[in-house]
Amino acid sequence: MKAVIVVFSQTGNTLKLAERIQEGIAAEWSECELVALEKADGMDFASYDLVGLGCPSFYCKEPFNVTDFIEALPRLDGKNWFVFASHGCEMGPVLVSMAEKLAEKGVTVIGSTHVYGDAFLPFYPHPTYTTGHPLEKDLDQACEFGKTMAKNSVAIASGQKELIDPPTLEHIPDWAQKDRVNLSREIMPKIMPKFTINQDECIQCGLCEDQCPVDGIDISADPPKIQEPCIYCFMCAKSCPECAIEADWSGLVKMAPGNYARYLVSLKAAEARGDFQFMVDPDSINFDDPMHVQQARKKNS
Ligand SMILES: Cc1cc2nc3c(=O)[nH]c(=O)nc-3n(C[C@H](O)[C@H](O)[C@H](O)COP(=O)(O)O)c2cc1C
Ligand code: SF4
Ligand code: SF4
Repeated sequence: MKAVIVVFSQTGNTLKLAERIQEGIAAEWSECELVALEKADGMDFASYDLVGLGCPSFYCKEPFNVTDFIEALPRLDGKNWFVFASHGCEMGPVLVSMAEKLAEKGVTVIGSTHVYGDAFLPFYPHPTYTTGHPLEKDLDQACEFGKTMAKNSVAIASGQKELIDPPTLEHIPDWAQKDRVNLSREIMPKIMPKFTINQDECIQCGLCEDQCPVDGIDISADPPKIQEPCIYCFMCAKSCPECAIEADWSGLVKMAPGNYARYLVSLKAAEARGDFQFMVDPDSINFDDPMHVQQARKKNS
């Protein structure tokens, strides 16, 4: 049997999840490939018995580069895939969104899983409510999930269709379901901060170009090109050692306490279900100290 996991991960949480699922599948089938999304274009997925696709939740759904990846797939009628995600406080309908798009390609989504992970957003404080995640016990469960996917895909292929278990919207609050639409590809450029590269500060290290998952940055252009295109991951701004990538974060900073109030409702509900455990004291979160301010302070110290 042949399996592959395709993963998009920027800060390592989804990669950790992918590796443990891979371990589980390999325990059943002796091996399972793991491929970064950036290297997966043009792969012959029809030749695999099982494929896993995973990413972080961005704005309650899959990042736009993952959407593009799915949309570029050929028809894969009847092939068994599973989806997985890591996320911060509220993952929203990310798993359902991926599953629906895969179903349009004829794929059968046989299962899904997710873990909480630490989150780094320039306009939010850090530590955040999910700092300390993913937990080892959640990753152990991911390994078991991998074993289940391997076993179930064989059983499903031999007719046990009742084992097909696609993701659902259970426990996903209405606001997060609406974000999937409200934060669409068409709307995002209109509401997200516009970046500029401060050429007096930039040391031409090239880190931002390397980190950009969609080749949206060219520092050698005059003026330097940035966010063309953009999936609003903020990786460039977070990783610039000189804080030379500038943006007006004030609108998003202002929204942070309101957003965090909604996140707390989601997390407390998940805690009550036994799905989440606070590793930081929620009352210790300091909204007056967003990450981009922390970074600038660190640079100047
Ligand atoms: C731009 C951006 C948007 C995000 N949006 C959400 C979100 O809507 N819901 C959520 O729970 N977490 C959100 N997060 C947190 C990430 O999903 C989380 O940190 C994830 O574990 C990152 O995965 P990685 O380490 O594999 O890159 C967001 C993070 C970023 C950078
Ligand atoms: S990471 Fe910052 S300093 Fe390095 S090239 Fe990009 S903008 Fe310039
Ligand atoms: S330009 Fe920056 S925010 Fe946009 S996709 Fe590239 S790294 Fe992410």
